[in-house]
Amino acid sequence: ILGGVLFDLDGVITDTAELHYQAWKELADELNIPFDREYNEKLKGVDRMASLKLILKNGDREFSQDELVKLADQKNERYKELLETLTPDALLPGVRKLLKALRRDGILVALASASRNAPTVLDRLGVTDLFDYVADAGAVALQKPDAEIFLNAAEGLGVHPLRCIGIEDAEAGVLAIHRAGMPAVGIGTEETLPDADHHVATPADLTPALLREWMEEFP
Ligand code: G6P
Ligand code: MG
Repeated sequence: ILGGVLFDLDGVITDTAELHYQAWKELADELNIPFDREYNEKLKGVDRMASLKLILKNGDREFSQDELVKLADQKNERYKELLETLTPDALLPGVRKLLKALRRDGILVALASASRNAPTVLDRLGVTDLFDYVADAGAVALQKPDAEIFLNAAEGLGVHPLRCIGIEDAEAGVLAIHRAGMPAVGIGTEETLPDADHHVATPADLTPALLREWMEEFP
């Protein structure tokens, strides 16, 4: 029985990856480190400090812990400025409709994102009210592909993990969902997300009935 649906944020609800990219790009340019959209793909679902370290790998300077924290803060301040440009128009197709349909059916909904800015993003998109719980990325010790954030989201809903289904656009997230014991829906294709149990192009292709069906057939 489907009790809860756990959503990733970036690439599932909205495409903040481009805003993260712009903020990182400005920092990388300042440090004279090569960085492009292709490399940015590697940062999807990766937390802020780990992302910074992946970018700095392509430069030849070493940074102290203090400097790393300052650089991460600098990027985040810029990212927060960019978030101010976000409006409900930035919701991916079908998200609002799906969230409302789930609510109507009494299925609980949580956000399981690595982003500490997730609450702000939901506010900007105007969908905060449609979430029953938002997992606190700052309180999670182990990043995706560890199961922690999805287990935390299920717990926050008060729904047993084996009654939840997860939706992700990144392979690390799909693995995290599976480690939490849940079926994983991939926003993408067999090629981009080989481990997802089902694939759709956008959330517009999802309905509560389909998610229920996929929940039932999951081993
Ligand atoms: C998501 C994004 C990542 C981002 C991470 C942390 O997982 O896909 O690109 O680095 O959140 O975001 P934050 O807003 O906390 O810096
Ligand atoms: Mg994502």
